[in-house]
Amino acid sequence: MNVLGIESSCDETGVALVQVPPDGGVPRLRAHALHSQIEMHRAYGGVVPELASRDHIRRVLPLARQVFVDAGCSLEDVDVVAYTRGPGLAGALLVGAGVACALAAALGKPTLGIHHLEGHLLSPFLSDDPPEFPFVALLVSGGHTQLMRVQGVGEYELLGETIDDAAGEAFDKSAKLLGLGYPGGPALSRLAEFGNPEAFELPRPLMHSGNLDFSFAGLKTAVMTQLRKLGPDVCEQPKADLAASTQEAIVDVLSAKSMKALKATGLKRLVVAGGVGANRALRTRLNSLCRRVGVRVHYPELHLCSDNGAMIALAGAMRLQSGRAVPAHDYAFDVKPRWPLAEA
Ligand code: KG4
Ligand code: ZN
Repeated sequence: MNVLGIESSCDETGVALVQVPPDGGVPRLRAHALHSQIEMHRAYGGVVPELASRDHIRRVLPLARQVFVDAGCSLEDVDVVAYTRGPGLAGALLVGAGVACALAAALGKPTLGIHHLEGHLLSPFLSDDPPEFPFVALLVSGGHTQLMRVQGVGEYELLGETIDDAAGEAFDKSAKLLGLGYPGGPALSRLAEFGNPEAFELPRPLMHSGNLDFSFAGLKTAVMTQLRKLGPDVCEQPKADLAASTQEAIVDVLSAKSMKALKATGLKRLVVAGGVGANRALRTRLNSLCRRVGVRVHYPELHLCSDNGAMIALAGAMRLQSGRAVPAHDYAFDVKPRWPLAEA
């Protein structure tokens, strides 16, 4: 069985084909193609939703063609078309959903709407070292910061989440204040390599709150205050120090709460997924903390950390395998810009 996946929730258009092995093992990625809109949005310092939707329209079919060429098969070989149903930008989601349903209708095959975060959460199953259920998942993307207890496919219990900004947002907003480009996360972490993480004392909100919630909004205010103190002609070294201190604060909180979630659940596996999961400092810290307490950590392959079609095709395939999915044949679709994962 082949599942086509289409992702268009934000600023990346992704299309992929995964194959479910006849023996029921972990689905295999046959091919995937991705177009990032970063260059287009850069001029505006962030994602412009209307431009994002229009660009998804331009990209999605050429990317699908590329996937079939790379996989050495054709549209007729598709058995199910999965697409990101939410959460995300409404207009952008509608492009993927519309194209998915049109393709499926033309083929007479069913469709499956997928939760974007479920895609991120399951994406490490495409790595060479796939996890086993159950596990704790730290989901860290541009819009979400959540700790989940994952019992199996579709069995997601929210343990804690951010009450304001997401970790990715904290990276992006701090990077913007530092005059770094968009997207800010990778730029800030590159600059942080040259800085001293202990140079500035920044807040670690909710770090000792006793629960598993996060709060990052105060961090950008603290970064702004420090920048004001440094004055308009700040040189490169204090900027790198501030970047390193910001990253350190985010990594401290994310890793402390992840360890707390592991302790509270008694689980011995951690999955880290979403764009911020690509952050090297976070990976190094979690690897070392988890090694000390005998916990295995799993990440998606680096190129599948940010948004992509492979994770959507995979989530579709795993939902079908688990018997939890109800593929639709009516080709009517809606999208869910706001959609809690526990309700997926
Ligand atoms: O999962 P993702 O690609 O998109 C969403 O679903 O939001 O995550 C994007 C977020 C952005 O905030 C970006 O700055 C951040 O992930 N990000 C990083 C790194 N790479 C991407 N943050 C810190 N370090 C990185 N290396
Ligand atoms: Zn994402």
